[in-house]
Amino acid sequence: MGTIVVLDPNMINMIAAGEVIERPASVVKELIENSIDAGASKITVSVEDGGRKLISVTDNGCGIDAEDLARAFEPHATSKIKTSNDLGSISTLGFRGEALASIASIAQVRMVSRTADSNSGNCVEIDCGNKTPIGPCPADYGTTVQVRDIFYKLPARRKFLKTANTEMSHISECFTRFALSNCKLEMTLKHNSRELYSLAAGQSIAQRVAELFSAQIAESLIETKIDEKNTQIFALLGKPSISRTNNKFQYVFLNGRFIRDKFISHAIKEAYRANLEPNRFPVIFLFIQMPFADYDVNVHPTKIEVRFYNSNLVHSQILGVIREKLLASNLDVPAKMPDTSQSNQGINDAMAEFFKRHRSIQTQQQLGFHSSPTRVTSHEPRATYFEPRDTSHEPRPTVIQIDNSYIIAPTDDGFIVIDQHALHERIMYENLKRRIQAGKLESQKLLIPESFELTDTQAQLLKTNTEMIAKLGVELLPFGPKTMAVQSFPTLLAKANPIDFVRDLIDLLTDRAGQIDAETLLDEVLNMAACKAAIKAGQKLTATEIAQLLDDKETIDNSSRCAHGRPTTITFSIKELEKQFKRT
Ligand SMILES: Nc1ncnc2c1ncn2[C@@H]1O[C@H](COP(=O)(O)OP(=O)(O)OP(=O)(O)O)[C@@H](O)[C@H]1O
Ligand SMILES: [Mg+2]
Repeated sequence: MGTIVVLDPNMINMIAAGEVIERPASVVKELIENSIDAGASKITVSVEDGGRKLISVTDNGCGIDAEDLARAFEPHATSKIKTSNDLGSISTLGFRGEALASIASIAQVRMVSRTADSNSGNCVEIDCGNKTPIGPCPADYGTTVQVRDIFYKLPARRKFLKTANTEMSHISECFTRFALSNCKLEMTLKHNSRELYSLAAGQSIAQRVAELFSAQIAESLIETKIDEKNTQIFALLGKPSISRTNNKFQYVFLNGRFIRDKFISHAIKEAYRANLEPNRFPVIFLFIQMPFADYDVNVHPTKIEVRFYNSNLVHSQILGVIREKLLASNLDVPAKMPDTSQSNQGINDAMAEFFKRHRSIQTQQQLGFHSSPTRVTSHEPRATYFEPRDTSHEPRPTVIQIDNSYIIAPTDDGFIVIDQHALHERIMYENLKRRIQAGKLESQKLLIPESFELTDTQAQLLKTNTEMIAKLGVELLPFGPKTMAVQSFPTLLAKANPIDFVRDLIDLLTDRAGQIDAETLLDEVLNMAACKAAIKAGQKLTATEIAQLLDDKETIDNSSRCAHGRPTTITFSIKELEKQFKRT
């Protein structure tokens, strides 16, 4: 006897609900989507007990008449598409016609709606699939959907709901996504009658970011956009100084729909690569507009993933627009100043002292008291003042090196602290990269070739990478059994020890060759070379060296970060100092 049965419609809906409705936030998402698709200009979301008890969404959209209200909860009932052709260019957030049917199969639902041309509203109630007849009821224009006791007949699924706080944080996140991509709408979110967000219609994205996240994040954003090949991209880029440990602060919207896409994430990561440590993620708000026909949204039940027909183009456009803007921006890290009420008085004292001296030295110079290099007085023995090389006719500002590691230089509106190793490493890296792109590194013959021992595997590894090693300007020659000698070495790396360098190169090739492409491998080698050849922390610098470092900082790309993504420069503004010293 056959065992196959066709499931009843409510079972089908419950199964669909398993994909679409994971938790209260999924209900909120589906209901807000419907309100936006209904053309609402005002949406209010009220939640009780993290959405476990009640989720209510009210909009002032087009409403649903009595006839459609009866159909809206049927499986595969939608007003948004009609034929298979429509699937090729979906312009609405919903289109599958299964959200309301799914929600109504796992909770108690009441929908009240009134259209613009109707004198009264209509109401329908459904309790886990059991529908009451549609009846008239008083209502404002628009639609309200109330969803109570989600999963109450499915204890196994209800058990998986988390605490009210956790569920609420998912709902807030969902609300935030819509609020960011629908700035023209008035939007409110309430929890247990308390208002969490009340967003006015017509705010800018930056204003929304300030209200939904923080003013600090909003202030750190750099705006950029492009419009080419039928695609408009608008992005607010978080400076590296506000980067995060995960990618949750990457908000990507495609024609208003929040999406997650691995190509786009990769493009963002690549664009920030020079500016962030590998385990950090940028804050970014990215808005893409492109023809609906250029991607497929029908690939995931919750529509959070899409398939781009030309994902390479999308990747390169996003990478290009972000990278270009970052290169053109000053990304020096603003100092996080300690609160003077806290115990860190020492730092404030040191800064006050620095400024006092800076001003008094300037005054002395102005008065013509001395023009020779100034030495620091005995009570601060680890600091040295320099009168660096004068490259223009303007006198260079007084500069100080402290702890033989950091350089402090005044700027127009405060001062900067430079990590000498980090900055020089970046300068070396950019120089190496530029020269290698132009051909190979210039090298010079060593007076006495330096030899080193190596295993057969290592010798083989060097052989496989001959081309890259030649590009680096390193010349290696066999020098006996299991021994090789460095004949020539790049001029730019003169400060590095040739044998140390080659040993590290072999280690790097052992770890990475074959696992990454040639370009990335070369990049890692250049990073390693830059680090080895750069000025070290703890190294005392001459005035000329410091001046050179400051000059180079102005001319290279990405000078705010070292090649590993750590900051090279921290800025201190006079405004912040005055705040800290309670002068304002
Ligand atoms: N707030 C609303 N205002 C006006 N009409 C609505 C509203 N909510 C739902 N509807 C109507 O009910 C239909 C069914 O909604 P439902 O969310 O189940 O499907 P959908 O939005 O078409 O597709 P999806 O399942 O992808 O969300 C919609 O197509 C729309 O016509
Ligand atoms: Mg929908």
